[in-house]
Amino acid sequence: AMEQEDGIRQELGSLHGIPLFKTFIEGWPQVKAFQARPDDLLISTYPKSGTTWLSEIMDMIYHDGDVEKCRRDAIYNRVPFLEMKVPKVPCATGVEQLENTPSPRLVKTHLPVQLLPTSFWEKECKIIYMARNPKDVVISYYYFHHMAKIHPDPGTKAEFLENFMAGKVAYGSWYDHVRGWWEKKQEKLLYLFYEDMKKDPRQEVQKILHFLGKELSEETVDRILHHTSFQEMKKNPAANYETMLPTMMDHRVSPFLRKGISGDWKNHFTVAQNERFDQHYKEHMAGSDLHFQMEV
Ligand code: PPS
Repeated sequence: AMEQEDGIRQELGSLHGIPLFKTFIEGWPQVKAFQARPDDLLISTYPKSGTTWLSEIMDMIYHDGDVEKCRRDAIYNRVPFLEMKVPKVPCATGVEQLENTPSPRLVKTHLPVQLLPTSFWEKECKIIYMARNPKDVVISYYYFHHMAKIHPDPGTKAEFLENFMAGKVAYGSWYDHVRGWWEKKQEKLLYLFYEDMKKDPRQEVQKILHFLGKELSEETVDRILHHTSFQEMKKNPAANYETMLPTMMDHRVSPFLRKGISGDWKNHFTVAQNERFDQHYKEHMAGSDLHFQMEV
C-alpha cells in the first residue's frame, strides 16, 4: 500500500535553475507560450503562502459574494494552476484548463517572477502577489510534502528546514521569490501579506476591491469574510481539496487546511534552529525594504 501511495512522488528537475517537478518541466513549452488575456487576474505566491485563501476571496469578489456560485466547482478548477501537469492521472494541464475557461479568468501560479510567461506583462494583466513569513511557510510546506504525493520525501523536519533554507525545494529559494516579486511592485501589481490578512481581513479585502476598481456593499463584504474564514473553508468541499484523488493528496496524513494561523512555527522550531534561521534570514534579506511579521 505504501508503495502504491508513494507511486507518484518525484525527484525534482531543474527549470532555468529553479527546482521543479519533472512533469511541470515537461509541460513548460506550453506554459512559456501561454497567451494571457488583458482581463486575466494572476494570483501569484510562493507555495503555502495563502494561495487558496486568496483564490476563494477573489472568486467570491468576482461573483459578488454569491456563495452558491462559488460552490460550482473545486477551487483548483475555478482558479486553474497555470504550470500544473500531473503524472499518471489523465487530467488536463493548467494551460488546457485555462484555454477552456471563459473570461474574466483567475489564474494561479507559483512561478518566480523571472519565469512568468511574458504575455502577462505584455497584456498588462493585474497581478496580486501574496507573501507569508518563511517560518510558517516552511512548516506548512513540510506537512504538505507528506500529504501531497507529488513532492519528494521531505525527510526529517531538520533536513527539510536545511533544504528550504538552501532553496532546494520545489520553486526554489523563498527569499528570491518574495524579493523578486517585490521588486516588480507597481500600479498593476498588488503585494499582500498573509499576516495582514489574518490581522485585518476586512482591510485587505478593501485593498483588493480598490485595486480592482470595484465596490461591494458592507453586507456582501461580510459574507465574503465569513465564507472565506479558515473554519468555513475547512468544511467546504469546494475549497478544502478533499475532492482531489487520494493518490494525489492524503488528508488523513495532514489536511490541506491544516492550522491556518501565524506563528505555528513556534511549536516546531528548536531554539537553535530558530537562531540559525534568524541569522540566515538577516543575511538573505539584507538591503531589502521588504519586512515580515513572524507572528500576529
Ligand atoms: S498551495 O498548495 O501552495 O496552493 O497552498 P496555499 O493555499 O498557498 O497555502 C496553504 C496554507 O494556507 C492556509 N489557509 C488559510 N489560512 C487562514 N485562513 C484561511 N481561510 C486559509 N485557507 C488556507 C492553510 O491552512 C495552509 O497553511 P497551514 O499553516 O499549513 O495551515
